[in-house]
Amino acid sequence: MVSEKALDQWVVEAISAISLANDLEELKSARLAHAGDKSPIAQASRSLGTAPAEERARLGKMIGEARAAVTASLDSRKEALEILRDEKVLLEEIVDVTLTSARGHRGGLHPITLLKNEICDFFIAQGYGISEGPELEAEWLNFDALNIPADHPARTMQDTFFVEPLEAKLVLRTHTSPVQIRTMLEKQPPIYVICPGRTFRADELDATHTPVFAQVEGLVVDRGITMAHLKGTLDLFARKMFGEDSVTRLRPSFFPFTEPSAEVDVFFNGRWIEWGGCGMVNPKVLAACGIDSSEFSGFAFGMGLERTLIVRHGISDMRDIVEGDLRFSRAFGVGL
Ligand code: PHE
Repeated sequence: MVSEKALDQWVVEAISAISLANDLEELKSARLAHAGDKSPIAQASRSLGTAPAEERARLGKMIGEARAAVTASLDSRKEALEILRDEKVLLEEIVDVTLTSARGHRGGLHPITLLKNEICDFFIAQGYGISEGPELEAEWLNFDALNIPADHPARTMQDTFFVEPLEAKLVLRTHTSPVQIRTMLEKQPPIYVICPGRTFRADELDATHTPVFAQVEGLVVDRGITMAHLKGTLDLFARKMFGEDSVTRLRPSFFPFTEPSAEVDVFFNGRWIEWGGCGMVNPKVLAACGIDSSEFSGFAFGMGLERTLIVRHGISDMRDIVEGDLRFSRAFGVGL
């Protein structure tokens, strides 16, 4: 039978263990040991049933008081330890908002991409859409549909990257003009689109050539489109690219997919500079795309983005554009 002395002893032990608990984890162990199911006080409580009837009330009261004392001690220690824990967490998780952070590199867009976006924004503002096509292109779309015959020199191995297996008749597109064809095959006029994209020609990388470059193509097909619309559009475009004083001039030239065709020069920094190609869409090309050339006419133009950047910013070496040196990009205000 449990004695009052033993009970007192257990309470003293419990309270001492509880007061020694330094954090909530330790308090949990103290609670298990001194107030849990297996604790001596709990066992005494369970043995009440077997105590002689006349003793039961007195013992029950004693045990109840012992449990209450232990519970009260646990509760007050728990409250104190919780306050300590909260203070500790607040201290540990303190954030000094005045500290300077280690700035990571955010990355930025390459000047060619920035130029592409600038051009697209300019034409979008005039109601044009953007059309894109694959870099790996059907030979038929890159050449045949553009009225470039099989014996045309541009097709030879020297200029074009043919892709194996050769029977698949795929090439890395040599210009963005196949996107004209894709656009005209997909929808009927009126068509006002800009086709930006990467293009490929089998050139060595040197100061003035790169085998991978970027072009932007413009295509308009509508009723009553004339060369005057082409010239006006090119002048606006040139002013956007090279400043308000810029003008363009057209020199007669030849492209199989435009008739008549012209080279576009731009007057910049006191001299005429070759900028791109243009012309009225060849009726044969319109016909190949199922567009009635007695009702519709169109113009197209194409420029190299690298060339545009080189002229505008006086870049002397094409390799600077290609190599991805951050110092080159930073000079264009790219935040890196
Ligand atoms: N595709 C031609 C080239 O790459 C440029 C061009 C585009 C010419 C549109 C006329 C019309 O050389």
